Amino acid sequence: MRVLVIGANGKTGFRVVELLVGGDHEPVAMIRDPRQAERFEALGVGTVVADLEQPLDPALVGCEGVIFAAGSGSSTGPEKTLAVDRDGAVASIAAVESAGIERYIMLSSMRADPASEGHAISHYYRAKGVADRHLARSDLDFSIVRPGRLSDEEGTGEIDIAESLGRRGSITRDDLARVLVRCLDEPRTIRRTFEVLNGRVPIDSALSSLGASGGGGHR
Ligand SMILES: NC(=O)c1ccc[n+]([C@@H]2O[C@H](COP(=O)([O-])OP(=O)(O)OC[C@H]3O[C@@H](n4cnc5c(N)ncnc54)[C@H](OP(=O)(O)O)[C@@H]3O)[C@@H](O)[C@H]2O)c1
Repeated sequence: MRVLVIGANGKTGFRVVELLVGGDHEPVAMIRDPRQAERFEALGVGTVVADLEQPLDPALVGCEGVIFAAGSGSSTGPEKTLAVDRDGAVASIAAVESAGIERYIMLSSMRADPASEGHAISHYYRAKGVADRHLARSDLDFSIVRPGRLSDEEGTGEIDIAESLGRRGSITRDDLARVLVRCLDEPRTIRRTFEVLNGRVPIDSALSSLGASGGGGHR
């Protein structure tokens, strides 16, 4: 599968690209600035310059799957959260549908909820929640992956996943990237929404232990 990695230049997105290199799928790195292409060329990975705040259709040509690992980040204001994490994500889902692409893997967040209130970053949780709801109501083969706090420590290869884990915690970007990439080859993740934290179960086993399609999927 030729897979567009949206947010490829980000901390998690770059790890996703690195993991895809040499595997069964061909990554295409979506970047915002042509100067970012060099680090991908060094990996032998093609790039496409595009922005979630602009039409995405040209970037999707020839792709069969998408991994969304972009985000407005904490250094920008709430207006970018709406423009990128909500509206950009929703627009990307529509563009993927129009392009006839079926597979869409969304890096979301724990607490993502269209009705979030009372948190310092409720606007972010609402934005992610709206995008997730849009994706879950689509006909796409989606996986919505909701991590806890992200860390830059070395990956452990072991996670806990469930529709609702009932606890808070963190996960390394290494392990999150592995989860996002493994979703491509694990049919049990299709039309599923699940939380993920570092835990005790090897990633492959955790993903393949997700129940049969139904729980965690929602329209
Ligand atoms: N931090 C946490 O604890 C946490 C917890 C749960 C979920 N998350 C989610 O995980 C995501 C990834 O985290 P991260 O730390 O790996 O991300 P990151 O390093 O901040 O990277 C975000 C990427 O998104 C790209 N981007 C921003 N605006 C864009 C736009 N308009 N169009 C296209 N691309 C755009 C950035 O491009 P440039 O490189 O050009 O700036 C960057 O490459 C976050 O954005 C967040 O939604 C984070």
